[in-house]
Amino acid sequence: MCSLSKSKSNKHVLCRIILVLLLSCTPYSTNLSSCCSSSNILLSPSVSAAFSLRTLTLDGYLEFEDLGNAAKDFGGRYHFLPSAVLHPESVADVSAMIKHVFELGTFSELTVAARGHGHSLQGQAQAHKGVVIQMESMKSHEMRVHMGKDPSVDVSGGELWINILHETLKHGLAPKSWTDYLHLTVGGTLSNAGISGQAFLHGPQIDNVQELEVVTGRKGDIITCSEKQNSDLFYGVLGGLGQYGIITRARISLVPSAERVKWIRMLYHEFSTFSMDQEHLMSSKETFDYMEGFVVINRTGLLNNWRSSFSPKDPVRASQFNSDGKILYCLEVAKYFDRNEYHVAEQSIEKSLSELNFIPSTLFQTEVSLVEFLDRVHTSETKLKEKGLWDVPHPWLNLLVPKSLISHFAEQVFGNIIGDNNGPILIYPVNQSKWNNKTSLVTPEEDVFYLVAFLSSAVPSASGNERLEHILAQNQRVIDFCSRTTTGCKQYLPRYSAREEWQSHFGPKWEVVTRRKLEYDPLAILAPGQRIFQKSSGIVSTKAQVQAT
Ligand SMILES: Cc1cc2nc3c(=O)[nH]c(=O)nc-3n(C[C@H](O)[C@H](O)[C@H](O)COP(=O)(O)OP(=O)(O)OC[C@H]3O[C@@H](n4cnc5c(N)ncnc54)[C@H](O)[C@@H]3O)c2cc1C
Ligand SMILES: *[C@@H]1O[C@H](CO)[C@@H](O)[C@H](O)[C@H]1NC(C)=O
Ligand SMILES: *[C@@H]1O[C@H](CO)[C@@H](O)[C@H](O)[C@H]1NC(C)=O
Ligand SMILES: *[C@@H]1O[C@H](CO)[C@@H](O)[C@H](O)[C@H]1NC(C)=O
Repeated sequence: MCSLSKSKSNKHVLCRIILVLLLSCTPYSTNLSSCCSSSNILLSPSVSAAFSLRTLTLDGYLEFEDLGNAAKDFGGRYHFLPSAVLHPESVADVSAMIKHVFELGTFSELTVAARGHGHSLQGQAQAHKGVVIQMESMKSHEMRVHMGKDPSVDVSGGELWINILHETLKHGLAPKSWTDYLHLTVGGTLSNAGISGQAFLHGPQIDNVQELEVVTGRKGDIITCSEKQNSDLFYGVLGGLGQYGIITRARISLVPSAERVKWIRMLYHEFSTFSMDQEHLMSSKETFDYMEGFVVINRTGLLNNWRSSFSPKDPVRASQFNSDGKILYCLEVAKYFDRNEYHVAEQSIEKSLSELNFIPSTLFQTEVSLVEFLDRVHTSETKLKEKGLWDVPHPWLNLLVPKSLISHFAEQVFGNIIGDNNGPILIYPVNQSKWNNKTSLVTPEEDVFYLVAFLSSAVPSASGNERLEHILAQNQRVIDFCSRTTTGCKQYLPRYSAREEWQSHFGPKWEVVTRRKLEYDPLAILAPGQRIFQKSSGIVSTKAQVQAT
C-alpha cells in the first residue's frame, strides 16, 4: 500500500499516517497509552500541544488570551476560538509554527489557519482550538516594485490591496485586476480568485501573479513557485482555499496606471437587452476597462442613492423617469484615461455607448480619480459604519452561472425567489477562455458564465434573527433552483461541510485536490475552516485515496 506513493519522503510520511490511522481505529484515549511511546502525547493532547507552542523561538510573538477577534469574520455567523494567535514577524515564524505542528503529528488536534483581513463569510479563516496566524502582522515588510518590460511588485501575503495601489501609483503603475473592495489581503483573495469588473479583460487576480513564496503544510517547507518553477504548487495555491500552503509573498503583475476614470451607469427594463449589451461589451475589441452590473428590485430609494453622486446626461428626461416599481437592471462601466487623452477617451466612450440599447433617459456619469474609483466600496463602508450597519451578519451568496442558464435564472430568481433587495445584487459575464485554466478555481464548464453575487446584510431587529433566517432561506431556494438544472452552476467563496458536497463542487478537479493535499499538507493542518479535510478524518480519506489508486 505504501509503495504507491511517489517520492521517498512521501512514502515515509504516508506510511506513518496510515500506521497511525490503523493504530487509532480503537477510540483515541484508549490506544494512546498502549501503543505510543512518544512523550508529548502522555498529557491530554490539546493541552500539551497548546503548551508546547510556548517552547517556540520566534521573531514575532504568540498570544494566548483575548483571542475573540480571531473568532470573528465579516460573515458574522461563525465564531470558533483558537488556542493561540501568532503575530509573525518573518517567513521563518510561519515556517516554524507549521513545522512544529507537523512534528506533533496526528495525535495533536492543532491546526493552523492564516487570517488575512478576516473578511471571510463563514469561518474560513478560523481554527477551532488551533493556531491563527495573523498575516497582517507581516505586512510592514517593504513592497518592492520591479520596473521593466513586465513590471511587478513584491508584496507580503498579509498586505492589503489598498496599500499596494498607493505604493505602485508612486511609480506610475498599478495592478490590472481587482476586487470591488480593497481592504482585503493578497493571501486572502489569491486563495479564492479575486473577481471584479476587470476580470472580463484580464482574468481574476489569480491570473495576474508572476511568483509566490509559499510555506507548505509539509514540515513548513518554504518554497518559491511560479509558472516555470514548482508549477504544481503555484497553480494549486492560486484559488486553492488555503489548502496547500500559506502565501507569504506574491509578485503581482503591473501595468502603467491611468489618472482619471469616467464612471457610467445606465438602466434597462429587460434582462435580455441588458445581458446582450454586457456580452457585446465583453467581446468588443475596443471596450471599457471595467464592466459590472446590478439588479434593482422594488427599491426606488437605492436608485436615488447613487443618482445623487452621478449626473444625468439628460437631466430633464432623467427627472421624469419612473421605474413604476418594476425590476431594473443597471449596467455599470468605467473608462480609464490620462488628462492629456481626454478627447480620445470621450470619443471611444461615445462610440461604445452608441452600440448599446439602454433606456435613453437613464445615462448617468461621473468622473473621479483612479483611487476614488477603485476604493469606492470603502466610502460605503465608512457611511455604513457610522450608522452601525457594517458589523452585522452578511449571509452572502456568490454564484457562477453558465450563460445557457442565465435568462432562465434571471426570470426565476429576480422578483420571484428574491422579492426585495437586502443589499446589492451584482451580475456580469466573463469569458473564461481568456482565463488560466490551470489554477484551483472551480468554474462552470461553459466558456461564458455570469458572476451573480447576492451581497445581503441582515440588519438585526426587535424580532431577533428573523431577517437573517429569511435571507438564508432565500439563498437556499436560489441554490436549490440551480441544482435542479442540469447545467452546473458553481458557488464562489463556497462553504460545504460534507465530503460529498466538496467532491461534487470540485468535480473532475477533486482528484488533483486530494493528490495535492497529500503532497503539500498530508496531515491536513492548514485552513481547517474550509472544512474540506479534517485533521483526523482527512487521514481516513487519505488512506482510502491511497488504496484506491
Ligand atoms: C466588502 C467585501 C467585498 C468583496 N468583494 C469581492 C470581490 O469583488 N471579488 C472577490 O473575488 N471577492 C470579494 N470579496 C471576498 C473576499 O475575496 C474574501 O472575503 C476573501 O476571504 C478575502 O478576505 P481576507 O483577505 O480578509 O482573507 P480571510 O478571510 O482572512 O481568508 C480567506 C481564506 O484564505 C486563507 N488565507 C488568508 N491569508 C492567506 C495566506 N496568506 N495564504 C494562504 N491562505 C490564506 C484563510 O485561511 C481563509 O481560508 C469581498 C469581501 C468583502 C467583505
Ligand atoms: C470567448 O472567447 C473566445 C476566445 O477568445 C471566443 O472565441 C468566443 O467567441 C468568446 N465568446 C464570447 C461570447 O464572447
Ligand atoms: C416592495 O417594497 C414594499 C415596501 O418596501 C413592500 O411593501 C412590498 O411588499 C414589496 N414588494 C414586493 C413584490 O416584494
Ligand atoms: C486549458 O487552456 C489551454 C490553452 O488555452 C487549452 O489548450 C486546454 O484545452 C484547456 N484545458 C481545459 C481542460 O479546458
